[in-house]
Amino acid sequence: MTASRVVLFAKRPTGAPTADCFEMREVELPPPAKGEVQVRNLWMSVDPYMRGRMFDLGPSYASAFKLGEPLSGRAVGQVVASKSAGFQEGDFVFSDLGWREAFNADPEVHPLRKLNLRGLPPEAFLGVAGITGLTAWVGLLKLTGLRAGETVLVTAAAGAVGSVACQIAKLKGCKVIGSAGGPTKTQALLEQLGVDAAVDYQAHSGRLTEAFQHAAPDGIDVCLENVGGEHLEAAINVARRYARFALCGMISQYNRISEPYPVRNLIMICGKELRIDGYLVGSYEDCLDEFLDEVCQWYNNGSIRSVETKFLGLEEAPAAFMGLFSGENLGKAVVGLA
Ligand SMILES: NC(=O)c1ccc[n+]([C@@H]2O[C@H](COP(=O)([O-])OP(=O)(O)OC[C@H]3O[C@@H](n4cnc5c(N)ncnc54)[C@H](OP(=O)(O)O)[C@@H]3O)[C@@H](O)[C@H]2O)c1
Repeated sequence: MTASRVVLFAKRPTGAPTADCFEMREVELPPPAKGEVQVRNLWMSVDPYMRGRMFDLGPSYASAFKLGEPLSGRAVGQVVASKSAGFQEGDFVFSDLGWREAFNADPEVHPLRKLNLRGLPPEAFLGVAGITGLTAWVGLLKLTGLRAGETVLVTAAAGAVGSVACQIAKLKGCKVIGSAGGPTKTQALLEQLGVDAAVDYQAHSGRLTEAFQHAAPDGIDVCLENVGGEHLEAAINVARRYARFALCGMISQYNRISEPYPVRNLIMICGKELRIDGYLVGSYEDCLDEFLDEVCQWYNNGSIRSVETKFLGLEEAPAAFMGLFSGENLGKAVVGLA
C-alpha cells in the first residue's frame, strides 16, 4: 500500500475562500489493478476557475465540486507503477488529478496525457507551457490576431496568463502595457517581463481610465482582459476604433457574484466598433501541439521565461489557491508535492 494525502472540499465559500473550505485526509492506495497506473504527483496547479467550481449554480463549463469529495485540478506527475500497456514507470504525465499526492487511474477511463518535457522542467507544463500559457497564446494570436507595432493592454499582467501574454506580445513586436496590484508587481513587469509601461491599479482605484490613458496616450489596439469590473470599463474607455479584446476572465468579480461591478460604458462597443471575444481555452485544445512547438522553442532559446511562485507541500495548496484572490502570486502559482 502507498500512503497519499488528499485535499477534500469541506465548505462552499461565500465571498473569498477561507482555510475551513479545505480538509486534508490520508488515504492508502493499493498497487495498481490491471489496466491502471499509479502516479506520484510532482506539481499541482491552483487556478481561479476553481473558485467557480465551488459554487453550485447548476450547469456550467466546469462541474461543481462536491462537498466531502477530493478537489481536482491540473497536475504533472510521474508513473511509479504501471499495469497499463501504454505507460511505463518513469513516464511524465499530465492529469486532472491534482490536490493529492498520488493516485491510481485507468488511462482508458481517466485521461492521462504523456508529457515530452523537451528540456523544460515539469512544472513549466502547468504554467508557461501549460494551459495558462496556451490561454495567453490563443487569446492574443488566435483571437485578436495582434500585429507588430500595435499597443496591447494586458490586465492581471503579473499573473500566470498575464506574464506569458506580456512576453508573447513583446516577442511579436508590440508595445505592451501591463496592469497589476502594487509596486513590487509593477516593477517585476518592467524589469522581468520587459513591458513598456506598468500601471499599479491599486494606486489608481476609481481613476484607472486616466492611468491607462497616461500609459497609452494614443489608445490601445488589443486587450487581453483577465480582471473585469473597473479594468474592463477603463480598457473600453481607452480602446481605439476597431480594437480587439480577448476576454479571458474577470477575476475581480468571482467573489462578488451577487453584486457585480456595473460596467457603465458598454455602449462604446458599438460606437468604437470593438470586437470583444469571450473564450474558454478548453475549446482550443486542437492548438496544443502548435502552441507547444512554439513555446518550447522560445523557452529553450531564452526568448520566454517561466515566472512562478512555488509553494511546497500539499498542506500549502489551500494558501496557494486563496492567494490568487489576494494577489500573493507572481506568475504561475504551483505547489510542489514530491
Ligand atoms: N478563458 C479561459 O479559458 C481562462 C483560462 C485560464 C485563466 N483564465 C482567467 O484568466 C485570469 C487570470 O488567471 P491566472 O490563472 O493567470 O491567475 P493569476 O493571474 O496568476 O492570479 C490571479 C491574479 O489576479 C489578480 N487579482 C485577483 N483579484 C483581483 C481583483 N479583485 N482585482 C484585480 N486583480 C485581481 C491578482 O494579481 P494582482 O496582484 O495584480 O492583483 C492575482 O495574482 C482569471 O480571470 C482566470 O479566470 C481564463
